[in-house]
Amino acid sequence: MSNEVGHRFLAKLGKKRLRPGGVEATSWLLGQGEFTSESRVLEVACNMCTTSIELAQRYRCQITGVDLDSQALQKAESHIRAAGMESHIRVMRGNAMKLPFEDESFDIVINEAMLTMLNRSAKEKAVAEYWRVLKPGGRLLTHDITLVKPDMASAIAELRQTIHVHVEPMPVGDWESLMRGAGFVEVDHRQGAMTLMNARGMIRDEGLLGTLRIVRNGMKKDNRRQFRSMSRFFNTVGRDLNYIAVCSRKPNG
Ligand SMILES: C[S@@+](CC[C@H](N)C(=O)[O-])C[C@H]1O[C@@H](n2cnc3c(N)ncnc32)[C@H](O)[C@@H]1O
Repeated sequence: MSNEVGHRFLAKLGKKRLRPGGVEATSWLLGQGEFTSESRVLEVACNMCTTSIELAQRYRCQITGVDLDSQALQKAESHIRAAGMESHIRVMRGNAMKLPFEDESFDIVINEAMLTMLNRSAKEKAVAEYWRVLKPGGRLLTHDITLVKPDMASAIAELRQTIHVHVEPMPVGDWESLMRGAGFVEVDHRQGAMTLMNARGMIRDEGLLGTLRIVRNGMKKDNRRQFRSMSRFFNTVGRDLNYIAVCSRKPNG
């Protein structure tokens, strides 16, 4: 019987986008990044590098991906090879809170579906690291879960139980103050319904065949209970949570 961390479970079923707002949120974020072929990009929590590969294919920029999960990084390496993007993307194991890079190394830092998993002080530590490694004028692009009602304690508790991660989603104002508190300016955001596990979102993110494969894998005996429990949460209580994509800029000089 499966009882795994939500994103690992979905990746095992074949899901490639492990983030609350799917391609809708990611497309908005990437549109804010002003990417060019000259951009030096860091993707934190790159997992299997779905976003990095899309970016490399579209802009031919240089991308470094870091993640704590060595198994996900192995998958990333094989996906990068299959896409023929080895000369544009390198990956390494690394912690968002202690990035192995010099100050002011990157034009853009992108970080999807990770900060929500950290407590407030760890969130601040990670965002301070993003500030440190960004060049002046650089962009920070993040994608997380936000609270849209005043008292959502029971929804958060249920989410933690469902995905087996002690997540700490925050209201929109707290996400903005997290970025402003680190010194970022021009903080802009987009929010909307979480699409991780509804039919429309799944088909948009993974295509029809990809969705059918995920559902078939999810309904296998060992996966069924967790798949049903995650689907139920995200299509009922989870509807009261939103994705939030935030774009901010490190001031020039
Ligand atoms: C929900 S998945 C999101 C993966 C990918 N960004 C996406 O949107 O599809 C969260 C990822 O964050 C990574 N992660 C968690 N804590 C991290 C940390 N402190 N530093 C780097 N990566 C971390 C996990 O290993 C996992 O790959």
